[in-house]
Amino acid sequence: MREEEREADYVLGTHDDEVARLGLQHRVWRNAVTECWHRAGITHGWRVIDVGAGPGYATADLAEIVGPTGAVLGIERSARFLEAARERCRRRGRDNVEFREADLMEVSLGQLRYDASWCRWVASFVSSPKKLVENIAGALRPGGLAIFHEYSDYETFRFMPMKPALEAFSREVMASWRASGGEPNVARELPQLLTEAGFRVLEMIPRVRTVSQRDYTWQWPKSFIEINIARLEELRRVTPEQAADVRREFAEVEADSGAWFTTPMFLEIVARKE
Ligand SMILES: C[S@@+](CC[C@H](N)C(=O)[O-])C[C@H]1O[C@@H](n2cnc3c(N)ncnc32)[C@H](O)[C@@H]1O
Repeated sequence: MREEEREADYVLGTHDDEVARLGLQHRVWRNAVTECWHRAGITHGWRVIDVGAGPGYATADLAEIVGPTGAVLGIERSARFLEAARERCRRRGRDNVEFREADLMEVSLGQLRYDASWCRWVASFVSSPKKLVENIAGALRPGGLAIFHEYSDYETFRFMPMKPALEAFSREVMASWRASGGEPNVARELPQLLTEAGFRVLEMIPRVRTVSQRDYTWQWPKSFIEINIARLEELRRVTPEQAADVRREFAEVEADSGAWFTTPMFLEIVARKE
């Protein structure tokens, strides 16, 4: 598949704005992510797969944590994201990282016997979460950990005071993911799929924040709305008038110092391969 087709195929796109947005998204959740990895025990010497690594923000952090005696393998199907990921790791002087361009729905990772996998905001976009989980299961050693941050209740995306066009925007985001073969609330399926694939689920922790503009997390809806309303227009899923309503309502909440935002809830899942 050519990059143009991947860009069309991946609902959020692989352009430079999306690379930057994924960076902001990583910084917003970085403390929760790092804490999760530490609690799971990831440390020097571990071999970790970053499943659907995107432009490699988490990959580079993982590479620093596992150190020179460890290794990180980033799997990603977008050549454009991979280029950004390789450049990031090069700049940070990480030579314990390897990237593989692969479609997780088409290619088996093989029996790599890795210690852990990290999979964030990927399962919502694949045609078969079952295949994804089985692929991860095959690549880990017995006792290896599969760690996920995946949405379970996207409907919690909400501004207070509530705004009709922003509510409709969040529903349209979910509809567009479903129309491209994904499922926004995919984390609900993971415990059963993991059990069927031979894992024991150790932890399921909900992650959701309600924030005002004073919190850095506010930058997440700001960049997400800005980029995705343009993307939904490009995909002809919203009209220019609907897009204008979304932008106007977001400007209203930004001008309202009493406004709050609740993030779409995801689950932190840690499972051990038996
Ligand atoms: C929302 S981004 C998240 C990227 C990264 N995990 C992060 O947390 O920043 C979703 C990623 O999943 C990748 N992806 C989606 N379906 C895939 C598939 N079938 N095989 C490999 N990668 C896939 C996309 O190309 C994109 O990089």
